[in-house]
Amino acid sequence: MSKVLVGITGGIAAYKSAYLVRELKKAEFEVKVVMTPFAGKFVSPMTFETLSGNKVYTDWDEEPLAHINLARWADTFLIAPCTVNTLSKLACGIADNLLLTTALAYDKPLIIAPAANTVMYKNPAIQENINRLRDMGHMIIEPEFGVLACEEVGEGKLADTERLMDWIFYSLEDKPLRGKKIFITCGATREYIDPVRFISNDASGEMGFSLARVARWWGAEVKVIAGFTTAKEPPEVELIRAVSVEEMFRAVMENLSWADVFIMNAAVSDFIPATKHESKIKKKEGLTLKLVKGVDILREVGKNKEDRFVVGFALETENILENAKKKLREKNLDMIVANTPDSIGSKSHKGFILTENTLEEFDSLSKLESARRILKRVCDNISL
Ligand code: CTP
Repeated sequence: MSKVLVGITGGIAAYKSAYLVRELKKAEFEVKVVMTPFAGKFVSPMTFETLSGNKVYTDWDEEPLAHINLARWADTFLIAPCTVNTLSKLACGIADNLLLTTALAYDKPLIIAPAANTVMYKNPAIQENINRLRDMGHMIIEPEFGVLACEEVGEGKLADTERLMDWIFYSLEDKPLRGKKIFITCGATREYIDPVRFISNDASGEMGFSLARVARWWGAEVKVIAGFTTAKEPPEVELIRAVSVEEMFRAVMENLSWADVFIMNAAVSDFIPATKHESKIKKKEGLTLKLVKGVDILREVGKNKEDRFVVGFALETENILENAKKKLREKNLDMIVANTPDSIGSKSHKGFILTENTLEEFDSLSKLESARRILKRVCDNISL
């Protein structure tokens, strides 16, 4: 179980850190909290003590080496919210409270999530301090745009809990894909018959988004092209939307030269209406649809593969391994993940990872876990 130290400073967004600590505990992290004296004016230490199940540190009290002990204890250290005052002191090495002293005693990169009024945040002195912290190797989670507690609208809102959690995962993972560019497609395409009706499927995007999350945590630069999705979007990842097969095909081809690794996970319509009706088809007319074959995006990528590593998925109802192997060869792929339709739109995943010479079976994994398996195989097969 990884140990997360949460630093809380005196800003109104401190109340949001209560949700963060709760989420961390739900994700089975061990959590300790260190607060600046002013943070306690916004939220009581007792709140964090109750949520974290651990003593909250605000001063040295009876533990004179608390800063050293906390710094040594932590696997990762996130300061959220981080006021402009604290971040400026961090940039200068000032240590006039327990949180700042702990940060100085901590020898890994800090995760700093600033929150402030827009004008304060944009102040050149603060921006310069942020750049200094970045140059020192610390991670800055950019605040979000929105309505602030001061009722102004602008940049300065503390990043939401999901983004904070994502950075915690990022900070804890090894970086076997550092410097690699990973390009992923996911979700379902839609082929419109008329302005309201379409042909599509149940893909949620969960698998592709999980691949994107893990690839980012492992240090890759990640780009995703997604059709229709219901799964939560991965934070800090470039996301391009495409509706139809044709749109997805264009977006893939425009971005392919950027990629070191291409993973085609999208559930693409094989059949598209021969004509799209401009106005809504009236039911009294009855309907016979003529469908034609759409472009096979992955096959086209296989033809333009060059030295990039290309991964496909195969959805099979019978002869899974045999058919997947056939697709691997015919589409000129380096790897293929074979699964059955019950994985579509489902939270769990079972199937096989195949290359020309290897075969790995996995069973009932969460999509995040199967993303790890797949990317581990990718790492084993590409030159790093
Ligand atoms: N694929 C694609 N373009 C299509 C159809 C599929 O790029 N028009 C990709 C899928 O994203 C997947 C792989 O090709 O990575 C295999 O898709 P699958 O649906 O299993 O097989 P198909 O190639 O469509 O062949 P079939 O339906 O005959 O099994």
